[in-house]
Amino acid sequence: MSLVDDVEEVLIPEEVLRARVQELGRQISSDYEGKQPLLVGILTGAVFFVADLMRAITIPCQLDFMATSAYGAGTENTGVVRILKDLNDSIEGRHVLVVDDIVDTGLTMDYLLTTLKARYPASLAVCVLLDKAERRRREVPLRYVGFRIPDRFVVGYGMDYAGLYRNLPFLCVLKPEVYR
Ligand code: IMP
Repeated sequence: MSLVDDVEEVLIPEEVLRARVQELGRQISSDYEGKQPLLVGILTGAVFFVADLMRAITIPCQLDFMATSAYGAGTENTGVVRILKDLNDSIEGRHVLVVDDIVDTGLTMDYLLTTLKARYPASLAVCVLLDKAERRRREVPLRYVGFRIPDRFVVGYGMDYAGLYRNLPFLCVLKPEVYR
């Protein structure tokens, strides 16, 4: 049995992902020239994205991680956001770029930004791989967006369903029977 057997449709192939991440890296390198940004990767979904993005950035930058509560085994956001792992260091006076996999309802990002803003960063911005704008319940400022996608549950390139499918190298939608 291969993971690929569960794939209904590939939404964003590997080469397209790679090219867009390179573009984002170039853009961030130019926007943050001289600022030594701190990338804050949101675990676990953004691990592959932040790893590739950071390698596409050509200026000095640093990396830290935070983990928030996800959907658990389901696909619906309960609205409950918890910090499961906090940053290792203070962000006071730092140019912070939050790097996440997807903004869906916006509840998680809204909560994160409120929390981080209270720690006096010099600047705070968001880079997200996927924007599911149709589902937004909280307006959140997204400075960098990889792709706008329709309202479908996607997996791959770090994103999961029930903890699985993160290791698919493309972004895809699963067959309906997988959810039964
Ligand atoms: P939000 O709070 O509704 O914006 O949801 C944010 C989090 O929900 C993301 O960081 C993902 O972990 C998860 N999520 C939202 N949509 C999807 C999806 O289509 N596939 C996998 N995870 C998702």
